[in-house]
Amino acid sequence: MADGEITQAEYWNGEAGERWARNQRVLDAVFAPLTEALFAGADLRPGDAVLDVGCGAGDTSITAARRVGAEGRVVAADVSGPLLAVARKRSVAAGTAPIAWIEADAQVEDFGEAVVARAISRFGVMFFDDSVAAFANLRRALAPGGRLTFLCWRPLEANAWIAVPRAIVLPLVPVPEPSPPDGPGPFRFADPEIARSVLAAAGFREVAVEPVDRPLALGRPEDAAGVVLELGPVSRLVREQADSVRDAARAAVAAEFAQRAGDGAVSLGAACWLVSALR
Ligand SMILES: C[S@@+](CC[C@H](N)C(=O)[O-])C[C@H]1O[C@@H](n2cnc3c(N)ncnc32)[C@H](O)[C@@H]1O
Repeated sequence: MADGEITQAEYWNGEAGERWARNQRVLDAVFAPLTEALFAGADLRPGDAVLDVGCGAGDTSITAARRVGAEGRVVAADVSGPLLAVARKRSVAAGTAPIAWIEADAQVEDFGEAVVARAISRFGVMFFDDSVAAFANLRRALAPGGRLTFLCWRPLEANAWIAVPRAIVLPLVPVPEPSPPDGPGPFRFADPEIARSVLAAAGFREVAVEPVDRPLALGRPEDAAGVVLELGPVSRLVREQADSVRDAARAAVAAEFAQRAGDGAVSLGAACWLVSALR
């Protein structure tokens, strides 16, 4: 469990899921350079069946559907009802693969045996209670030779888009509880050795972990402050605070961003691991 007493399913079906759902367009635009890196590594081929794990509001599922074309197939799985509701409403261009949106816990869902050629995830695999069992379950869905490719975060300090606003917000809020490094959360695989050992224990082979560094265009200072306080790890610092504290945090972050960017767009670095492994 993480985030106090609630389960991940409760977390992503509650206020957090609603918040991510509201911000789907902004989020997909901000993460676009990272999404490109994911697909560059995922090696999808026309006709492939693809499993998108923790698909959220479906941006990567729709991109996968376009890449594999009408002969392919996408299974997009998430525990979050609010995010899947957004995903189901998104339009999909003609000529793309059909997408099956399923509300499911990817740790234990029976996706079938050897039914997909590729499994992908953009930040959707760091929230499992038992990562080895969960990845073994995903491996079972992959056909022999099938490939898993996912993006996860490198440490907080390497991610300026998180670290810069966090340093501004921290003095304004109560000291946060430290998250256990081996529990579910955004930095679950910040140490690449953990990803390697979990995947090996789940039966994967040829595990490769590569750094991906990209600047994220967060928008003008006011909007950029909204993005980092609504989404991502800094949002966790303010979400239970009084409106006055949230407003003060937003004003302070916007002021720092304005100093950095003037009237232009705020750009801060993101640091991820692109992890791939074969069944
Ligand atoms: C950080 S969000 C990323 C969402 C989406 N992939 C994106 O990039 O916009 C993490 C997602 O993982 C989902 N998730 C967490 N645990 C899950 C589980 N056990 N099974 C399926 N989805 C899960 C959450 O509901 C959430 O949508």
